[in-house]
Amino acid sequence: MSDPKLDAIREELPALRRGAFLNTGSFGPQPIRAHAALVTSDRADVEEGRMGHKVFERMLDSRARTRSVFAGVLGCDDSELALTHSTTSGVNIAVMGLDWQPGDRLITAQAEHPAELNPAAVLKQRRGVEVVATEIGLPGVDHVAALAAALDEGGARAVLLSHVCWTTGLVMPVRELADAAHQAGAVLIIDAAQGAGEVQVNVKDLDVDAYACSGQKWLCGPSGTGALYVRPDRMDDFQLTFAGYGAGKAARDCSTFDVTPGAARFEAITLHGPSLDALRVGLEWLQGDEVGLPWAHERIAGLGRRCHEALSALPGVTTLSPAEGIAGLVSFTVAGMEPEKVTTALEEKGFFIRHVEFPAANRISTGFYNTEDEIDAVAEAIGELAGAR
Ligand SMILES: Cc1ncc(COP(=O)(O)O)c(C=O)c1O
Repeated sequence: MSDPKLDAIREELPALRRGAFLNTGSFGPQPIRAHAALVTSDRADVEEGRMGHKVFERMLDSRARTRSVFAGVLGCDDSELALTHSTTSGVNIAVMGLDWQPGDRLITAQAEHPAELNPAAVLKQRRGVEVVATEIGLPGVDHVAALAAALDEGGARAVLLSHVCWTTGLVMPVRELADAAHQAGAVLIIDAAQGAGEVQVNVKDLDVDAYACSGQKWLCGPSGTGALYVRPDRMDDFQLTFAGYGAGKAARDCSTFDVTPGAARFEAITLHGPSLDALRVGLEWLQGDEVGLPWAHERIAGLGRRCHEALSALPGVTTLSPAEGIAGLVSFTVAGMEPEKVTTALEEKGFFIRHVEFPAANRISTGFYNTEDEIDAVAEAIGELAGAR
């Protein structure tokens, strides 16, 4: 049965016409109106020539408005948010900004994305930081107990984890992890590449110290966009690793440096204005009545459950994601078939999913714009692949 709301949403996302779009965990589909905003903004850059004082006014206005809309999505104040180019840049701004001393401990997890593991490895090499790779995020693990055990050993300066594990799809109990980290005197930095737009977020309720987001995934924005929330009373704990034009004001002889108040200090001076305009228009669409974030979150999780149930019933298919505690990411394996082969075989049939490395699996992302029929059809296609083994 057709649903007028869903039909209108799908009309707005032309990429859905190419096949079943089941990989929002990598890139979300972009709304037509966001593209229109990008084109209008870019045309203005070309035709008005990026010159004259109006250009700066336009740039600053676009940034301020985008920051404000993004802050609304995360439940924070505009002054607590920096616009970035990606989750990875937000994570690096936060984690590299801490005053690491040799022997300090950084607690993360084996199942984490390179956005966590790579900065952790760099800190280990450059600063002699001891990296603790826990089993947090893996199925069957008590995440809070695993963190508490790692913290009990003492010396932790920071905990670096994802809101939703990108391979197992498990939604982390962020508030409890924050409480444990804070009790041990560590800061909690969250990678929300999988999280913002996928599940309900209020950074104040989560009590995180830093929360790094991507624009291009569940928030359906352009690539090269993102944001970093920094808790105001921790702002100065994250020192500047790079200091752009907006970071503060240095004396000519550099004898003094007045840091810009708020999270804007972390912004690169040059951000792509047309992309910010597109991001903002897309976020307004997600927040407005045409979509609505609470509706989107519920639908993402409902389709995730449906997908999990359908895959669990298939002989020769093992779900890596558990039935409980997931949202829009469902990982599975097909007996006797390499995950990469599963991805390409499904792509030939018009289903766009991906495979992940650790634990090795295929991953389906359920977007708010997917239909129940698409979920049932991808499960049927996976069942056929498993049956052919
Ligand atoms: C958990 C996680 N972190 C970080 C990233 C990278 O995001 P970005 O390209 O915005 O840094 C991804 C996905 O690509 C991810 O799944």
